[in-house]
Amino acid sequence: MTASETRLGFPHRPSPHPTPAPQRAELLADPGFGRVFTDHVATATWTVDRGWHDAGVRAAEPLSLHPAAAVLHYAQEIFEGLKAYRQPDGSVALFRPALNAARFAHSARRLALPALPEAAFVDAVTALVRADQAWVPEPPASLYLRPFTVATEAFLGVRAAEEARFLVTASPAGPLFAGRDAGLTLWISDELSRAAPGGTGDAKCGGNYAAGLAAQAVARAHACDQVLFLDAREHRWLEESGTMNVLLVTADGELLTPPLGTILDGVTRRSVLELATDHGLVPVERPVSVDELRAGCLDGSITEVFATGTAAVISPIVTFRSAAGEFAVGAGTAGPRTLALRAELLDIQFGRVPDTRGWMVPLR
Ligand SMILES: Cc1ncc(COP(=O)(O)O)c(C=O)c1O
Repeated sequence: MTASETRLGFPHRPSPHPTPAPQRAELLADPGFGRVFTDHVATATWTVDRGWHDAGVRAAEPLSLHPAAAVLHYAQEIFEGLKAYRQPDGSVALFRPALNAARFAHSARRLALPALPEAAFVDAVTALVRADQAWVPEPPASLYLRPFTVATEAFLGVRAAEEARFLVTASPAGPLFAGRDAGLTLWISDELSRAAPGGTGDAKCGGNYAAGLAAQAVARAHACDQVLFLDAREHRWLEESGTMNVLLVTADGELLTPPLGTILDGVTRRSVLELATDHGLVPVERPVSVDELRAGCLDGSITEVFATGTAAVISPIVTFRSAAGEFAVGAGTAGPRTLALRAELLDIQFGRVPDTRGWMVPLR
């Protein structure tokens, strides 16, 4: 057995105070995004002496941390985001959780946190969904899962903490951009950057998101839904949006997206690139400049742009705005390729078409 295959076992100790069924039904009727939480968490503790231990599924309760806990001072934290989907026969399935497990381990290494064995990550998520299965909503909503590891050691010196805690919390969730089906407007951030070469852009750590909030506030102030970050060196090359990767459809049939490096290796991005050929599109990963984006949208050689993410699924981008003005993509409405890819992805996730790629992991 390799280190990544190590299992921990996540025995379920049921919450003594579960949400009554009528209240749960009320919450599930309109969960919104990220506000409603289930009855349990999955958890495991790590210390430098004992490694991972004390794993289980327990009642969701407030955490108790010493005020000197390293995460509170030095942001030694990583997280993930994936979803459990209700299937037509009433069962529940996860979408490509092994990719999240691998990315979580990658983030752990970058943030000098202990890497949870990848098999244990999938076990933890599965055990929590099994315990809180009644919280998995009906389509189009789903159960958003948020695994994370925080450095809990009470020590004010700056070094990798010797104690950490892994948790998974679960949140029934509707669409991230409710009411924005017509398409998003992105603010091109040519001052504030998200990531630099050698930094943490390809890790999913809380600090990246805190650093992006000021740019998001600028976007909001310009009536935009989200930010489009450019590279930190030249403020010229497209990177990604706040919580989404960005892909472009060209008139000559390419599905174009910035390469990995300083951006997050999105599970949805990867999946859409894998679906592309079935949609008559050639997947291409190469740098795209903001000048190419603007010129292509204006002369029609870029016909559609969309953003991908677990929470955002596939969201059309119809307008870009910046200090230099604004331009529309195509006709300023969601394009046919975007909608077709989105429909196929959702059909796979909700089990409405056969899972020919083996992406769905049914709850055992
Ligand atoms: C910065 C960033 N980019 C891209 C994504 C999309 O990744 P995924 O498709 O794995 O959700 C996310 C969301 O997780 C993100 O936070």
